[in-house]
Amino acid sequence: MKCTKIFILALLVVASCVREEATSVGTTPEVEARVDGLLKQMTLAEKIGQMNQVSVGGDVANYADAVVKGRIGSILNEADPAKINAFQRLAVEESRLGIPLLVGRDVIHGFHTVFPIPLGLAATFDPALVEEGARVAAVEASAQGIRWTFSPMLDIARDPRWGRIAEGSGEDTYLDCRMAEAMVRGYQGAVLDSTSMAACVKHFAGYGAAEGGRDYNSTFITERQLRNDYLPPFEAAIRAGALTLMTSFNDNDGVPSTGNDFLVRQVLRDEWGFDGLVVTDWNSMGEMVPHGFAADNKDAAEKAVGVSVDMDMMTFGYLSHLEELVRSGAVKESLIDDAVRRILRVKVMLGLFEHPYVDVEAAAAVQYAPEHLAAACRTAEESAILLKNDGVLPLKDGARILVTGPMADAPYEQLGTWCFDGDRTHTVTPLKALQERFPGKVSYVQGLRYTRQKRDRFDDVVSAARRADVVVAFLGEESILSGEAHSLADLNLKGSQSSLLAALHATGKSVVAVVMAGRPLTIEQDLPHCGALLYAFHPGTMGGPALSRLLTGEVNPSGKTPVTFLRTVGQVPLYYNHHMTGRPYKNETLLDDMDLEPGQTSLGNTSYYLDYGAYPLFPFGYGLSYTRFAYSGISLDREVYTPSDTLSVSFTLTNTGEREGTEVAQVYVRDLVGSVTRPVKELKAFRRVSLQPGESQLLTVQIPVSDLAFYGLDMVKKVEPGEFRLWVAGDSASGDPLSFEVRAAR
Ligand code: BGC
Repeated sequence: MKCTKIFILALLVVASCVREEATSVGTTPEVEARVDGLLKQMTLAEKIGQMNQVSVGGDVANYADAVVKGRIGSILNEADPAKINAFQRLAVEESRLGIPLLVGRDVIHGFHTVFPIPLGLAATFDPALVEEGARVAAVEASAQGIRWTFSPMLDIARDPRWGRIAEGSGEDTYLDCRMAEAMVRGYQGAVLDSTSMAACVKHFAGYGAAEGGRDYNSTFITERQLRNDYLPPFEAAIRAGALTLMTSFNDNDGVPSTGNDFLVRQVLRDEWGFDGLVVTDWNSMGEMVPHGFAADNKDAAEKAVGVSVDMDMMTFGYLSHLEELVRSGAVKESLIDDAVRRILRVKVMLGLFEHPYVDVEAAAAVQYAPEHLAAACRTAEESAILLKNDGVLPLKDGARILVTGPMADAPYEQLGTWCFDGDRTHTVTPLKALQERFPGKVSYVQGLRYTRQKRDRFDDVVSAARRADVVVAFLGEESILSGEAHSLADLNLKGSQSSLLAALHATGKSVVAVVMAGRPLTIEQDLPHCGALLYAFHPGTMGGPALSRLLTGEVNPSGKTPVTFLRTVGQVPLYYNHHMTGRPYKNETLLDDMDLEPGQTSLGNTSYYLDYGAYPLFPFGYGLSYTRFAYSGISLDREVYTPSDTLSVSFTLTNTGEREGTEVAQVYVRDLVGSVTRPVKELKAFRRVSLQPGESQLLTVQIPVSDLAFYGLDMVKKVEPGEFRLWVAGDSASGDPLSFEVRAAR
């Protein structure tokens, strides 16, 4: 008898440990007790109401009845704090159980103070700064009652035709992981309080691999690719405490994410132990019908709830069908309870029950706070990438500057995609910033009114250029050209922008091009027409001062490409960490060097394009500075490691130029032989290092050997012993490798 008791006790201890371990969001017994207490009082209809999210768009009266009846658990597309208070009052004071609403919004790269687009954030290679920016966004948005952001977007994107490449961290899994953690920490804060916004990692999963870069298209990612490349950022974000996750629109290998048992139930819930809230993307439940994966919305609702999707954004499938599905026995009520528990858990953890309302006046005071603008400016400075400089930059004091181009004074366009709340009247454009910096020295002729404009003659700009010492042309993409549903098949500068640049160049004056865009454009043909090119992505509210400081050299550019820049769109997909082929390119003959009537096998038979070769315009991790850096003395602490060791690589970084500058030192590793073929190299660490002119610093970077683990032939994640190569360099295409070995532990 005693033994049995001890055994049961032991089992309980084990069970509670397992439960603790499986808690990804860090819930507590108090939170759980509160959630359970509420759940016990709820009718089935009230439970299903919590699972329903509605876009309200300012219309309190229209949704009042549904809120009071407990038929809405969450709202989106409402940012007016007075209206949010009104909605919360209906939920808290007039609904039967007084459960507050979870108010969500796409706060993607800042709220009112707009930061660079996420691709620009990634170009900083500065997770601490990105975390600070996410904190600013959370402080501004939460002050207005928005406690849930549909960010960060963690979709690996290797196709710049896809407009949403703007919203993520680019092509690399490791960089994406670091950005994911930073954003989650920033949005949610070190501890959850009234300034926390729940992060929502999206879009789970594979959405960035849409066929042909056409948004919403199918993906065909193998399980191994998913696990090695596409899923790690989600796992990293969840380990960092992300409270919520969004399923994606795409079907992968035939299965739409919102009904994907493997992804949501098996990987997310069972393997990773995610006990946060899973929401669908906008109508992605309903879209399983046109996908041909569900017969109707009822079928779609059954499929979604079956894989543990908790909240329905805008299909109304749960609201319309779940009650009937439960009553008929097709769906177990316990599934509903689990979902509602996860929703209430987030509401309780965010403190919404204690603080459902906001102080409208206080909310106004924090928007565009000077420290927020300063953080946005610093971020824009770090996100700009210097891609070319033949000495034109920095601008010389006293020079007469002609500012031109459709992005020079475009306060709305420089904010980029997804900025519902950024007010253009707060934007500082480059024109304004340069005029302030160089009073009386800056003239302005627009050249093109907007980036798509077509024009044949540029007489006015050209004659103004002749009167100037240097021309700065602000080119790129209007914000509408990237983002959701804005895919492009041609990635050259739109309209007559290339002609404008060529006309300016033909004057013989020094020309600087600054490109603000949502993606890496194919700018090869434009490079000869400028002496320097600064790639700024869409830099946000403070883009003007940031670019002005970069152009004048008050700040030295330090951004690095978070994605490979292509020579032509026909190279898609081309990314640095592609797998090793059996026939790697060896500088073989290109079209122009081909003999007439060459023999079939005379060209080398390796992997490349006859017309464009094998290389991109700029590799991943690339970016220049006004100074130069040298790497020396790169060495490893050992030649042989076991999988449980930590590898230590040391090197000396020297600023060999005349200005202070910041370098992003990058460490790449290649696993020579695997049970499956491996990438040619993979980023495993990076460090931002600031050095005075002539200064050297000895740096040591530690990489746990377990970070070299991957899913091999047996689909078990592990380090496979063998030979490795390691590079330390300023980009993914430079440096000479060191060798080391990993041996299985005895
Ligand atoms: C997008 C999501 C977004 C949602 C809500 C969808 O169309 O794909 O990223 O969060 O709308 O606005």
